[in-house]
Amino acid sequence: MSAKIAAPRGTFDILPEQSAQRALVEHAARELLEAAGYARIETPAFEATELFSRGVGEATDIVQKEMYSFDDGGGRSLTLRPEGTAPVCRAYVEHGMHKLPAPVKLYYLGPFFRAERPQKGRYREFWQVGAEVLGSDDPAVDAELIVLLHDLLKRLGATVRLRLSSLANAQTRAAYREELAAYLRANEHELSETVRSRIDLNPLRAFDSDDLRTQAVMAKAPRLIDRLDSEDAKHFAEVRSLLELAGIPYEIDSTLVRGLDYYTRTLFEFTSDALGAQSGVGGGGRYDGLVELIGGPPTPGIGWAAGIERIVLAAQVSATRDVPPDLYVAHEGRRADAFTLTLAARTAGLRAQMELGGRSLKGQLKHAERISARHLAILDAQGTRLDGKPAEDIVRQVLSA
Ligand code: HAM
Repeated sequence: MSAKIAAPRGTFDILPEQSAQRALVEHAARELLEAAGYARIETPAFEATELFSRGVGEATDIVQKEMYSFDDGGGRSLTLRPEGTAPVCRAYVEHGMHKLPAPVKLYYLGPFFRAERPQKGRYREFWQVGAEVLGSDDPAVDAELIVLLHDLLKRLGATVRLRLSSLANAQTRAAYREELAAYLRANEHELSETVRSRIDLNPLRAFDSDDLRTQAVMAKAPRLIDRLDSEDAKHFAEVRSLLELAGIPYEIDSTLVRGLDYYTRTLFEFTSDALGAQSGVGGGGRYDGLVELIGGPPTPGIGWAAGIERIVLAAQVSATRDVPPDLYVAHEGRRADAFTLTLAARTAGLRAQMELGGRSLKGQLKHAERISARHLAILDAQGTRLDGKPAEDIVRQVLSA
């Protein structure tokens, strides 16, 4: 026997039981989002690497260490998509969707790839359901999106907490970055090596540090949320009051940091205690500069994405895979008759299966019982029977039973 070949580290097979659970999540997401006017979009599994280095941000962990990039054979660098927002914005620009009536409301469901250290809830290939709204900075869009993700998670049975913050606009943020970098430099001797080396590259990530001494410094650091200008503060207040109107509990968390650089204004994340270290079930925020950054006209945007695997873990989604057949066709010496009958039953709309496992007639009867077939047809040398009685037109009889 040859050596076995296993699936790559951090990837997994979706076995039939799991695909039934995932189908429930996907179905609920499609139903909720389409009812709210979102249309499905799917972008390619790989894109030009530059889309992510520019869109997601050169300084992010995703771009620095987690991308699966390769040469396309013609000297061009391509990358397996690590996230869906930059690709959706790319498609929005490429297809001139800014000419459509605003806002454009889109959702997607598919696989994404990040070279992360695998652990429970963290994989190298994972699925996301995501929603993006382009062309409106109305705070009701922010609130609508947050309510939709909340409702999806709740409908599936997950207990989650919502953390909410605002990252202001690019100018306020740039000024704040300077202020924070100066604060970090003043406290440099108390910071971890990683945080110290990133003061200029990405000072905001210091809030994310696991290091206790760094955390103590960060507890006293200036907060962006206290620096919002009057417009951003008003926008944030409106988002909050709409969430309150919708009865969605949240906590303001000014330390909320997400690993993508395109965010502006509203930022949010749903977490679940059922997940352990990887507690983020889904999250997102506004990215009012992203479309322009990748070559489109100035366009406000906001969205979220949630991991299908994490939703399944957090909601402990359970589903039964096996739907019992309406008709099981057992046969002995009459394969062609059994085959024709099975096809006719399916054409008539019945869930029908015929014996394909090479079992003895006795074994076939046992199997029909095991899979809880509603009706059993037996075709053998003695004739044709349905549920033990001689039968003429089996399909009609099953249909009328
Ligand atoms: P993200 O927070 O990087 O955001 O990912 C969103 C969700 O994808 C996470 O909350 C998590 O459930 C899931 N996820 C991320 N990485 C992994 C992994 N390695 N294994 C399993 N699940 C994972 C984004 O991707 C943004 N594009 C969200 C967004 C949309 N922001 C605005 N619009």
